[in-house]
Amino acid sequence: MRVAVTGGGGFLGSHLCEALLRRGDSVVCLDDFSTGDPDNIAPLLSHPGFAFQHADVSVSADGAGRVDAVAHLASPASPPDYLRRPLETLRVGSRGTENALRLALRHNARFVLASTSEIYGDPLVHPQEEAYWGNVNSIGPRSVYDEAKRYAEAVSAAYRRTHGLNVGIARIFNTYGPRMRPHDGRVVSSFITQALTGEPLTIYGDGKQTRSFCYVDDLVRGLLALLDSSEMGPFNLGNPVERTVTELAEAVLAMTGSRSEVKHHPLPVDDPVRRRPVITRAQEVLGWQPEIDITEGLRRTVAYFAARPDRLGASAAAIRGGQDETVPLTAVTGATTAAQTIPGPAAETAGVTPTTAGPSGSGG
Ligand SMILES: NC(=O)c1ccc[n+]([C@@H]2O[C@H](COP(=O)([O-])OP(=O)(O)OC[C@H]3O[C@@H](n4cnc5c(N)ncnc54)[C@H](O)[C@@H]3O)[C@@H](O)[C@H]2O)c1
Repeated sequence: MRVAVTGGGGFLGSHLCEALLRRGDSVVCLDDFSTGDPDNIAPLLSHPGFAFQHADVSVSADGAGRVDAVAHLASPASPPDYLRRPLETLRVGSRGTENALRLALRHNARFVLASTSEIYGDPLVHPQEEAYWGNVNSIGPRSVYDEAKRYAEAVSAAYRRTHGLNVGIARIFNTYGPRMRPHDGRVVSSFITQALTGEPLTIYGDGKQTRSFCYVDDLVRGLLALLDSSEMGPFNLGNPVERTVTELAEAVLAMTGSRSEVKHHPLPVDDPVRRRPVITRAQEVLGWQPEIDITEGLRRTVAYFAARPDRLGASAAAIRGGQDETVPLTAVTGATTAAQTIPGPAAETAGVTPTTAGPSGSGG
């Protein structure tokens, strides 16, 4: 089948593109690289089944051509990213999702939304199952992401009810692995970057808050299972093993052999205290569950980061002492150089522009 992956140049999207190609599907990746990295998909450009469109999907997703399925992943995902890009985040969750839904509807395609555990906000029930409606502050700084995703779920469900579109919703919990950007402000990437550069590990609050960390390969298997089904869900996709942030810091220090100290900073506004998915629905309906434990997942992720020492130094400085939302991403991504291999207009005005890269670079 031919699958459009919006946000396919990002962390999860590029792994999904790769997995689809590996099993024989063809892929058209739409991305504006606002938070992604051209390096993520550079190895795919020569694959005959892969096409890339430089597109801001909040403007249009029309250039994807004929598709059998749409996986809508385009959105800033890490807190520093969406706090830096509040209006773009709301736009891609609303208009971007509607454009992706229209693309699916036009081709009678399966549509899968990458939603999030942030739907549950700072949850009042624990662990979180899909029936829980959440506890979200609709006007706090994080609301630009949480409410955008809640709207994205609402409009996707409405397309299913109104147009009979074959919609599925994945509520993704913290996922980590190779291709996270070292400075993206997520806890796993920050700890690894800080440990490998000898910087203090930044813990917000007392470190007793919990998260559940899912390795990227597991998550991608879950997305594929959802894509292949005609189930609506929503499905929690994440690892149900809950850990405190302090435990994660200790695991990273042990894995890297680092002697970095740990420094505590104030908790950000509306930061959730506990997170753990109930995944019974995904287990029973999709036959999915995570298989890779944190030790193996961290080993692979640390190896990826350690192989890119040139990126770590600047990133460590950018996240030193807590995330500074004013640090421009381009200062530390190296994306400018890489982007030269995938020409396209500036993200804000992009619309859809085919590239010249790769044998099937212009896609459908
Ligand atoms: N990684 C996680 O732990 C996690 C958890 C919950 C939900 N998710 C969801 O999964 C998706 C992917 O997350 P990720 O971690 O890979 O983030 P990411 O930032 O690495 O990837 C997002 C991609 O979307 C692209 N993008 C953003 N706005 C766009 C637009 N308007 N037009 C075209 N492309 C655009 C970015 O350039 C980037 O390549 C997101 O929708 C996110 O909300 C991720």
